[in-house]
Amino acid sequence: MKSFHIITFGCQMNEHDSERMSGILQSQGLVPADSVDDAEMVILNTCSIREKAEQKFYSELGRLAHLRGRDGRRITIAVAGCIAQQEGKKLLSRSPTVDLVIGPSDIARLSGMIAQSRGSGRPVVETGGDPEYHQKLVPAARTDGLKAWVSIMYGCDNFCTYCVVPHLRGRERSRPPRDIVDEVRGLADRGYREVTFLGQNVNSYGKGLDSACSFPELLGLVQEVDGMERIRFVTSHPRDLSDGLISAIRDLPKVCESIHLPVQSGSDRVLASMNRRYTSDEYRGKVLRLRDAVPAVSLTTDIIVGFPGEGDEDFAMTLQILQDVQFDTIFAFKYSKRPNTKALELPGHVPEQVKEDRLEQVFSLQKDITFRKNHLHVGSIQEVLVEGESRKGGTLTGRTRGNMAVNFAGSHHLKGSLVKVRIIAAGPNSLSGDLCE
Ligand code: 5AD
Ligand code: SF4
Repeated sequence: MKSFHIITFGCQMNEHDSERMSGILQSQGLVPADSVDDAEMVILNTCSIREKAEQKFYSELGRLAHLRGRDGRRITIAVAGCIAQQEGKKLLSRSPTVDLVIGPSDIARLSGMIAQSRGSGRPVVETGGDPEYHQKLVPAARTDGLKAWVSIMYGCDNFCTYCVVPHLRGRERSRPPRDIVDEVRGLADRGYREVTFLGQNVNSYGKGLDSACSFPELLGLVQEVDGMERIRFVTSHPRDLSDGLISAIRDLPKVCESIHLPVQSGSDRVLASMNRRYTSDEYRGKVLRLRDAVPAVSLTTDIIVGFPGEGDEDFAMTLQILQDVQFDTIFAFKYSKRPNTKALELPGHVPEQVKEDRLEQVFSLQKDITFRKNHLHVGSIQEVLVEGESRKGGTLTGRTRGNMAVNFAGSHHLKGSLVKVRIIAAGPNSLSGDLCE
Protein backbone atom coordinates (compact mmCIF):
# COMPACT_ATOMS: atom_id res chain seq x y z
CA MET A 1 0.00 0.00 0.00
CA LYS A 2 1.50 3.30 -1.06
CA SER A 3 -1.12 6.02 -1.24
CA PHE A 4 -3.73 7.39 1.12
CA HIS A 5 -6.45 9.98 1.18
CA ILE A 6 -8.03 11.53 4.28
CA ILE A 7 -11.57 12.93 4.38
CA THR A 8 -12.06 15.16 7.40
CA PHE A 9 -15.36 16.06 9.04
CA GLY A 10 -15.87 18.55 11.86
CA CYS A 11 -13.70 20.96 13.77
CA GLN A 12 -10.15 22.32 13.58
CA MET A 13 -9.09 19.70 16.08
CA ASN A 14 -10.04 17.03 13.57
CA GLU A 15 -8.33 18.91 10.73
CA HIS A 16 -5.19 18.92 12.80
CA ASP A 17 -5.54 15.23 13.74
CA SER A 18 -5.74 14.56 10.00
CA GLU A 19 -2.47 16.45 9.53
CA ARG A 20 -0.96 14.25 12.19
CA MET A 21 -2.21 11.01 10.62
CA SER A 22 -0.88 12.26 7.31
CA GLY A 23 2.46 13.01 9.01
CA ILE A 24 2.62 9.50 10.46
CA LEU A 25 1.82 7.85 7.13
CA GLN A 26 4.24 10.02 5.16
CA SER A 27 7.00 9.22 7.64
CA GLN A 28 6.35 5.56 6.74
CA GLY A 29 6.83 6.33 3.03
CA LEU A 30 3.17 6.54 2.00
CA VAL A 31 2.15 9.36 -0.31
CA PRO A 32 -0.99 11.48 -0.11
CA ALA A 33 -3.41 11.00 -3.03
CA ASP A 34 -5.54 13.88 -4.33
CA SER A 35 -8.75 11.90 -4.28
CA VAL A 36 -10.36 8.67 -3.16
CA ASP A 37 -10.03 7.37 -6.73
CA ASP A 38 -6.23 7.39 -6.57
CA ALA A 39 -5.90 6.09 -3.02
CA GLU A 40 -5.24 2.59 -1.73
CA MET A 41 -6.24 3.61 1.76
CA VAL A 42 -8.95 6.07 2.75
CA ILE A 43 -9.26 7.49 6.25
CA LEU A 44 -12.55 9.02 7.31
CA ASN A 45 -11.78 11.32 10.23
CA THR A 46 -15.20 11.70 11.75
CA CYS A 47 -17.21 14.10 13.92
CA SER A 48 -20.09 13.31 16.20
CA ILE A 49 -20.89 16.71 17.73
CA ARG A 50 -24.33 16.78 16.10
CA GLU A 51 -26.45 14.15 14.39
CA LYS A 52 -25.99 15.80 11.00
CA ALA A 53 -22.21 15.33 11.15
CA GLU A 54 -22.76 11.67 11.88
CA GLN A 55 -25.15 11.27 8.95
CA LYS A 56 -22.59 12.83 6.61
CA PHE A 57 -20.05 10.23 7.66
CA TYR A 58 -22.40 7.28 7.12
CA SER A 59 -23.32 8.45 3.64
CA GLU A 60 -19.63 8.86 2.76
CA LEU A 61 -18.93 5.38 4.13
CA GLY A 62 -21.73 3.99 1.97
CA ARG A 63 -20.24 5.67 -1.09
CA LEU A 64 -16.83 4.18 -0.35
CA ALA A 65 -18.25 0.70 0.22
CA HIS A 66 -19.93 0.95 -3.15
CA LEU A 67 -16.71 2.08 -4.82
CA ARG A 68 -14.79 -0.75 -3.26
CA GLY A 69 -17.35 -3.32 -4.42
CA ARG A 70 -17.63 -1.89 -7.91
CA ASP A 71 -14.22 -2.39 -9.51
CA GLY A 72 -13.07 -5.12 -7.18
CA ARG A 73 -10.72 -2.46 -5.86
CA ARG A 74 -9.26 -3.34 -2.52
CA ILE A 75 -9.26 0.01 -0.73
CA THR A 76 -8.35 -0.12 2.94
CA ILE A 77 -10.94 1.88 4.86
CA ALA A 78 -10.06 3.42 8.23
CA VAL A 79 -12.47 5.26 10.49
CA ALA A 80 -10.88 7.75 12.90
CA GLY A 81 -12.13 10.57 15.11
CA CYS A 82 -15.15 10.87 17.37
CA ILE A 83 -17.45 8.32 15.71
CA ALA A 84 -14.64 5.75 15.82
CA GLN A 85 -14.37 6.41 19.55
CA GLN A 86 -18.13 6.37 20.04
CA GLU A 87 -18.90 3.20 18.08
CA GLY A 88 -15.67 1.22 18.43
CA LYS A 89 -16.04 -2.31 17.12
CA LYS A 90 -19.77 -1.86 16.54
CA LEU A 91 -18.67 -0.10 13.34
CA LEU A 92 -17.39 -3.42 12.02
CA SER A 93 -20.78 -5.09 12.28
CA ARG A 94 -22.48 -2.02 10.92
CA SER A 95 -20.19 -1.87 7.92
CA PRO A 96 -18.12 -4.91 6.97
CA THR A 97 -16.03 -2.73 4.66
CA VAL A 98 -14.24 -1.07 7.58
CA ASP A 99 -10.68 -2.33 8.16
CA LEU A 100 -9.44 -0.04 10.92
CA VAL A 101 -11.18 1.85 13.74
CA ILE A 102 -8.92 4.27 15.56
CA GLY A 103 -9.80 6.67 18.38
CA PRO A 104 -8.46 10.24 18.58
CA SER A 105 -5.97 9.43 21.36
CA ASP A 106 -4.70 6.33 19.57
CA ILE A 107 -3.46 7.81 16.32
CA ALA A 108 0.19 7.43 17.26
CA ARG A 109 -0.46 3.68 16.75
CA LEU A 110 -1.72 4.11 13.18
CA SER A 111 1.15 2.47 11.31
CA GLY A 112 1.30 -0.46 13.74
CA MET A 113 -2.41 -1.05 13.22
CA ILE A 114 -2.06 -1.04 9.44
CA ALA A 115 0.71 -3.63 9.66
CA GLN A 116 -1.31 -5.74 12.08
CA SER A 117 -4.40 -5.71 9.89
CA ARG A 118 -2.39 -6.53 6.79
CA GLY A 119 -0.60 -9.36 8.58
CA SER A 120 -3.75 -10.95 9.94
CA GLY A 121 -6.13 -10.01 7.14
CA ARG A 122 -8.60 -8.95 9.84
CA PRO A 123 -9.94 -5.61 11.02
CA VAL A 124 -8.18 -3.89 13.90
CA VAL A 125 -9.92 -1.68 16.46
CA GLU A 126 -8.02 0.62 18.82
CA THR A 127 -10.03 3.04 20.92
CA GLY A 128 -8.59 2.44 24.38
CA GLY A 129 -6.79 5.79 24.39
CA ASP A 130 -3.05 6.03 24.95
CA PRO A 131 -2.58 7.55 28.43
CA GLU A 132 0.75 9.02 27.31
CA TYR A 133 -0.60 10.55 24.10
CA HIS A 134 -0.34 14.14 25.36
CA GLN A 135 3.37 13.61 25.96
CA LYS A 136 4.09 12.16 22.54
CA LEU A 137 5.59 14.08 19.67
CA VAL A 138 3.41 13.18 16.72
CA PRO A 139 4.60 14.56 13.36
CA ALA A 140 2.07 16.70 11.50
CA ALA A 141 2.08 17.08 7.71
CA ARG A 142 0.90 20.65 7.33
CA THR A 143 0.23 22.07 3.89
CA ASP A 144 -0.38 25.77 4.48
CA GLY A 145 3.21 26.97 5.02
CA LEU A 146 2.17 30.08 6.91
CA LYS A 147 -0.50 29.28 9.49
CA ALA A 148 -0.37 26.23 11.72
CA TRP A 149 -2.55 24.52 14.28
CA VAL A 150 -0.87 23.23 17.41
CA SER A 151 -2.75 21.12 19.97
CA ILE A 152 -2.00 22.21 23.51
CA MET A 153 -4.44 19.98 25.35
CA TYR A 154 -6.84 17.12 24.80
CA GLY A 155 -10.19 16.27 26.30
CA CYS A 156 -12.62 18.28 28.39
CA ASP A 157 -13.72 18.19 32.04
CA ASN A 158 -16.76 20.41 31.73
CA PHE A 159 -19.57 18.00 30.91
CA CYS A 160 -21.98 20.47 29.41
CA THR A 161 -25.14 18.39 29.37
CA TYR A 162 -25.66 18.51 25.58
CA CYS A 163 -22.08 17.69 24.66
CA VAL A 164 -20.65 14.35 23.63
CA VAL A 165 -17.02 15.53 23.63
CA PRO A 166 -16.05 14.68 27.24
CA HIS A 167 -17.53 11.20 26.72
CA LEU A 168 -15.36 10.65 23.67
CA ARG A 169 -12.20 12.66 24.13
CA GLY A 170 -11.81 11.94 27.83
CA ARG A 171 -10.50 14.09 30.66
CA GLU A 172 -8.32 17.15 30.16
CA ARG A 173 -4.66 16.45 29.54
CA SER A 174 -2.22 19.28 28.80
CA ARG A 175 0.89 18.90 26.67
CA PRO A 176 4.11 19.94 28.42
CA PRO A 177 4.88 23.62 27.69
CA ARG A 178 8.38 22.79 26.49
CA ASP A 179 7.00 20.48 23.77
CA ILE A 180 4.61 23.20 22.63
CA VAL A 181 7.28 25.91 22.54
CA ASP A 182 9.65 23.59 20.65
CA GLU A 183 6.95 22.82 18.11
CA VAL A 184 6.23 26.53 17.63
CA ARG A 185 9.95 27.28 17.28
CA GLY A 186 10.29 24.54 14.64
CA LEU A 187 7.34 26.03 12.76
CA ALA A 188 8.79 29.55 12.88
CA ASP A 189 12.10 28.21 11.55
CA ARG A 190 10.24 26.70 8.61
CA GLY A 191 8.56 30.02 7.74
CA TYR A 192 5.28 29.71 9.63
CA ARG A 193 4.08 33.08 10.91
CA GLU A 194 0.85 32.30 12.75
CA VAL A 195 -0.03 29.60 15.24
CA THR A 196 -3.49 28.68 16.51
CA PHE A 197 -3.52 26.77 19.76
CA LEU A 198 -6.20 24.10 19.91
CA GLY A 199 -8.03 22.64 22.88
CA GLN A 200 -11.64 22.11 23.98
CA ASN A 201 -11.09 24.61 26.77
CA VAL A 202 -7.69 26.28 26.37
CA ASN A 203 -8.28 28.61 29.34
CA SER A 204 -7.89 25.74 31.75
CA TYR A 205 -4.60 24.65 30.15
CA GLY A 206 -2.04 23.41 32.66
CA LYS A 207 -4.04 21.12 34.96
CA GLY A 208 -1.90 18.19 36.08
CA LEU A 209 1.39 19.40 34.57
CA ASP A 210 4.58 18.41 36.42
CA SER A 211 5.72 22.03 36.63
CA ALA A 212 2.88 24.53 36.80
CA CYS A 213 2.17 26.64 33.71
CA SER A 214 -1.10 28.50 33.16
CA PHE A 215 -2.49 29.39 29.75
CA PRO A 216 -1.44 33.08 30.00
CA GLU A 217 2.05 31.87 31.01
CA LEU A 218 2.17 29.59 27.97
CA LEU A 219 1.23 32.56 25.76
CA GLY A 220 4.07 34.53 27.39
CA LEU A 221 6.57 31.76 26.52
CA VAL A 222 5.44 31.59 22.90
CA GLN A 223 5.55 35.39 22.61
CA GLU A 224 9.34 35.00 22.86
CA VAL A 225 9.66 32.73 19.81
CA ASP A 226 11.43 34.71 17.09
CA GLY A 227 9.74 34.64 13.71
CA MET A 228 6.30 33.55 14.94
CA GLU A 229 4.31 36.74 14.45
CA ARG A 230 0.81 35.87 15.57
CA ILE A 231 -0.80 33.68 18.21
CA ARG A 232 -4.47 32.66 18.24
CA PHE A 233 -6.39 30.10 20.27
CA VAL A 234 -9.71 28.20 20.36
CA THR A 235 -11.88 27.45 22.31
CA SER A 236 -12.36 29.41 25.53
CA HIS A 237 -14.92 28.59 28.19
CA PRO A 238 -16.43 31.84 29.57
CA ARG A 239 -16.18 30.65 33.15
CA ASP A 240 -12.41 30.26 32.79
CA LEU A 241 -11.79 33.58 31.02
CA SER A 242 -9.52 35.01 33.71
CA ASP A 243 -8.23 38.53 34.22
CA GLY A 244 -4.79 37.00 33.58
CA LEU A 245 -5.85 35.96 30.09
CA ILE A 246 -7.45 39.34 29.42
CA SER A 247 -4.16 41.00 30.42
CA ALA A 248 -2.22 38.60 28.18
CA ILE A 249 -4.37 39.55 25.18
CA ARG A 250 -3.82 43.22 26.03
CA ASP A 251 -0.10 43.07 26.77
CA LEU A 252 1.41 40.42 24.52
CA PRO A 253 1.87 41.96 21.08
CA LYS A 254 1.71 38.66 19.18
CA VAL A 255 -1.54 37.50 20.78
CA CYS A 256 -4.28 38.57 18.37
CA GLU A 257 -7.22 40.57 19.72
CA SER A 258 -9.74 37.93 18.88
CA ILE A 259 -11.59 35.47 21.05
CA HIS A 260 -14.19 32.77 20.49
CA LEU A 261 -16.30 32.69 23.64
CA PRO A 262 -19.29 30.36 23.29
CA VAL A 263 -22.28 31.72 25.27
CA GLN A 264 -24.75 29.01 24.06
CA SER A 265 -27.87 30.72 25.50
CA GLY A 266 -29.00 34.00 27.03
CA SER A 267 -31.32 32.35 29.57
CA ASP A 268 -29.96 31.61 33.04
CA ARG A 269 -32.40 28.74 33.41
CA VAL A 270 -31.15 27.13 30.21
CA LEU A 271 -27.49 27.87 31.04
CA ALA A 272 -27.92 26.12 34.40
CA SER A 273 -29.58 23.16 32.75
CA MET A 274 -26.71 23.05 30.23
CA ASN A 275 -24.28 22.97 33.20
CA ARG A 276 -22.43 25.97 31.82
CA ARG A 277 -21.78 27.34 35.33
CA TYR A 278 -22.12 31.04 34.51
CA THR A 279 -25.12 33.35 34.29
CA SER A 280 -25.83 35.63 31.38
CA ASP A 281 -24.87 38.61 33.56
CA GLU A 282 -21.56 37.02 34.47
CA TYR A 283 -20.95 36.51 30.77
CA ARG A 284 -21.81 40.14 30.03
CA GLY A 285 -19.46 41.19 32.86
CA LYS A 286 -16.56 39.25 31.33
CA VAL A 287 -17.22 40.82 27.95
CA LEU A 288 -17.21 44.29 29.52
CA ARG A 289 -13.88 43.63 31.24
CA LEU A 290 -12.43 42.25 28.03
CA ARG A 291 -13.59 45.21 25.95
CA ASP A 292 -12.44 47.63 28.59
CA ALA A 293 -8.91 46.21 28.43
CA VAL A 294 -8.87 45.47 24.70
CA PRO A 295 -11.34 47.78 22.94
CA ALA A 296 -10.60 46.44 19.46
CA VAL A 297 -11.18 42.81 20.44
CA SER A 298 -13.14 40.74 17.97
CA LEU A 299 -15.66 38.49 19.67
CA THR A 300 -17.37 35.42 18.24
CA THR A 301 -19.66 32.89 19.86
CA ASP A 302 -21.67 29.66 19.58
CA ILE A 303 -25.42 29.49 20.15
CA ILE A 304 -27.65 26.47 20.63
CA VAL A 305 -31.37 26.95 19.99
CA GLY A 306 -34.08 24.55 21.11
CA PHE A 307 -32.26 23.07 24.07
CA PRO A 308 -34.71 20.87 26.06
CA GLY A 309 -37.00 23.08 28.13
CA GLU A 310 -36.19 26.26 26.17
CA GLY A 311 -39.41 28.26 26.17
CA ASP A 312 -40.24 31.39 24.20
CA GLU A 313 -39.02 33.63 27.06
CA ASP A 314 -35.72 31.75 27.28
CA PHE A 315 -35.23 32.10 23.57
CA ALA A 316 -36.06 35.82 23.74
CA MET A 317 -33.15 36.16 26.17
CA THR A 318 -30.83 34.54 23.65
CA LEU A 319 -31.87 37.13 21.08
CA GLN A 320 -31.37 39.78 23.77
CA ILE A 321 -27.80 38.74 24.55
CA LEU A 322 -26.95 38.76 20.85
CA GLN A 323 -28.38 42.27 20.68
CA ASP A 324 -26.54 43.40 23.84
CA VAL A 325 -23.12 41.91 23.15
CA GLN A 326 -23.00 42.59 19.40
CA PHE A 327 -20.74 39.69 18.40
CA ASP A 328 -18.68 40.01 15.24
CA THR A 329 -19.90 36.62 14.02
CA ILE A 330 -21.67 33.65 15.50
CA PHE A 331 -22.08 29.94 14.89
CA ALA A 332 -25.60 28.78 15.72
CA PHE A 333 -27.00 25.27 15.88
CA LYS A 334 -30.23 23.47 16.59
CA TYR A 335 -29.91 21.31 19.69
CA SER A 336 -29.13 17.76 18.62
CA LYS A 337 -29.57 14.65 20.81
CA ARG A 338 -26.24 12.98 21.52
CA PRO A 339 -25.67 9.52 23.00
CA ASN A 340 -24.86 9.26 26.72
CA THR A 341 -25.41 12.97 27.40
CA LYS A 342 -27.53 14.18 30.32
CA ALA A 343 -29.67 16.48 28.18
CA LEU A 344 -31.21 13.40 26.54
CA GLU A 345 -33.13 12.74 29.76
CA LEU A 346 -34.33 16.31 30.28
CA PRO A 347 -38.03 17.07 29.87
CA GLY A 348 -39.40 19.46 27.28
CA HIS A 349 -37.66 18.47 24.07
CA VAL A 350 -38.45 21.15 21.53
CA PRO A 351 -40.21 20.29 18.25
CA GLU A 352 -38.03 20.42 15.13
CA GLN A 353 -40.10 23.16 13.51
CA VAL A 354 -39.70 25.43 16.55
CA LYS A 355 -35.93 24.87 16.50
CA GLU A 356 -35.92 25.65 12.80
CA ASP A 357 -37.84 28.94 13.34
CA ARG A 358 -35.61 29.99 16.23
CA LEU A 359 -32.45 29.30 14.26
CA GLU A 360 -33.83 31.46 11.43
CA GLN A 361 -34.48 34.31 13.86
CA VAL A 362 -30.98 34.06 15.30
CA PHE A 363 -29.38 34.15 11.86
CA SER A 364 -31.55 37.00 10.71
CA LEU A 365 -30.73 39.18 13.74
CA GLN A 366 -27.02 38.38 13.58
CA LYS A 367 -26.83 39.09 9.86
CA ASP A 368 -27.63 42.74 10.53
CA ILE A 369 -25.23 42.93 13.47
CA THR A 370 -22.37 41.39 11.48
CA PHE A 371 -23.08 43.73 8.58
CA ARG A 372 -22.97 46.75 10.88
CA LYS A 373 -19.82 45.57 12.64
CA ASN A 374 -18.03 44.88 9.38
CA HIS A 375 -18.79 48.42 8.22
CA LEU A 376 -17.25 49.85 11.39
CA HIS A 377 -13.87 48.77 9.97
CA VAL A 378 -14.20 51.03 6.92
CA GLY A 379 -11.67 53.85 7.15
CA SER A 380 -9.47 52.01 9.65
CA ILE A 381 -5.92 50.80 9.04
CA GLN A 382 -5.49 47.10 9.78
CA GLU A 383 -2.45 44.88 10.15
CA VAL A 384 -2.84 42.03 7.68
CA LEU A 385 -0.85 38.81 7.38
CA VAL A 386 -0.66 38.25 3.62
CA GLU A 387 -1.70 34.70 2.72
CA GLY A 388 -1.28 34.97 -1.06
CA GLU A 389 -3.58 35.42 -4.06
CA SER A 390 -7.30 35.46 -3.34
CA ARG A 391 -9.31 32.47 -4.52
CA LYS A 392 -10.97 34.48 -7.28
CA GLY A 393 -7.54 35.74 -8.37
CA GLY A 394 -6.46 39.27 -9.19
CA THR A 395 -5.96 40.43 -5.60
CA LEU A 396 -4.06 39.43 -2.51
CA THR A 397 -5.83 38.10 0.52
CA GLY A 398 -4.98 37.98 4.18
CA ARG A 399 -6.47 38.34 7.62
CA THR A 400 -6.63 41.13 10.17
CA ARG A 401 -5.67 40.54 13.79
CA GLY A 402 -9.41 40.20 14.43
CA ASN A 403 -9.42 37.33 11.88
CA MET A 404 -11.41 39.13 9.16
CA ALA A 405 -10.48 38.30 5.57
CA VAL A 406 -9.24 41.33 3.59
CA ASN A 407 -8.68 41.55 -0.19
CA PHE A 408 -6.39 44.17 -1.65
CA ALA A 409 -4.10 44.75 -4.64
CA GLY A 410 -0.37 44.08 -4.25
CA SER A 411 2.57 42.01 -5.36
CA HIS A 412 2.57 38.27 -4.59
CA HIS A 413 6.07 38.80 -3.12
CA LEU A 414 4.27 40.09 -0.05
CA LYS A 415 3.05 36.60 0.85
CA GLY A 416 3.99 35.83 4.42
CA SER A 417 4.57 39.41 5.49
CA LEU A 418 2.61 41.70 7.77
CA VAL A 419 1.37 44.79 5.95
CA LYS A 420 -0.90 47.73 6.73
CA VAL A 421 -4.12 47.97 4.73
CA ARG A 422 -6.59 50.86 4.73
CA ILE A 423 -10.10 49.37 4.67
CA ILE A 424 -12.31 50.92 2.00
CA ALA A 425 -15.30 48.57 1.83
CA ALA A 426 -17.01 45.82 3.79
CA GLY A 427 -18.99 42.81 2.55
CA PRO A 428 -20.88 40.17 4.52
CA ASN A 429 -17.82 37.98 5.07
CA SER A 430 -14.80 40.03 4.10
CA LEU A 431 -13.27 43.48 3.79
CA SER A 432 -11.43 45.13 0.95
CA GLY A 433 -8.81 47.82 1.09
CA ASP A 434 -5.68 49.53 -0.22
CA LEU A 435 -2.16 48.67 0.77
CA CYS A 436 -0.55 51.49 2.76
CA GLU A 437 2.96 52.49 1.66
N1 5AD B 1 -26.39 20.07 19.72
C1 5AD B 1 -26.18 21.27 19.12
N2 5AD B 1 -25.03 21.94 19.19
C2 5AD B 1 -24.04 21.41 19.92
N3 5AD B 1 -22.79 21.84 20.17
C3 5AD B 1 -22.17 20.93 20.95
N4 5AD B 1 -23.01 19.90 21.20
C4 5AD B 1 -24.17 20.17 20.57
C5 5AD B 1 -25.41 19.51 20.46
N5 5AD B 1 -25.64 18.35 21.07
C6 5AD B 1 -22.29 23.14 19.71
C7 5AD B 1 -21.94 24.06 20.87
C8 5AD B 1 -20.45 24.05 20.88
C9 5AD B 1 -20.13 23.85 19.42
C10 5AD B 1 -18.76 23.35 19.14
O1 5AD B 1 -21.09 22.91 18.99
O2 5AD B 1 -22.44 25.35 20.53
O3 5AD B 1 -19.89 25.25 21.39
FE1 SF4 C 1 -18.42 20.24 25.10
FE2 SF4 C 1 -18.77 22.03 27.07
FE3 SF4 C 1 -16.42 20.69 26.84
FE4 SF4 C 1 -17.07 22.55 25.01
S1 SF4 C 1 -16.72 22.94 27.19
S2 SF4 C 1 -16.25 20.48 24.61
S3 SF4 C 1 -19.29 22.33 24.86
S4 SF4 C 1 -18.43 19.81 27.30
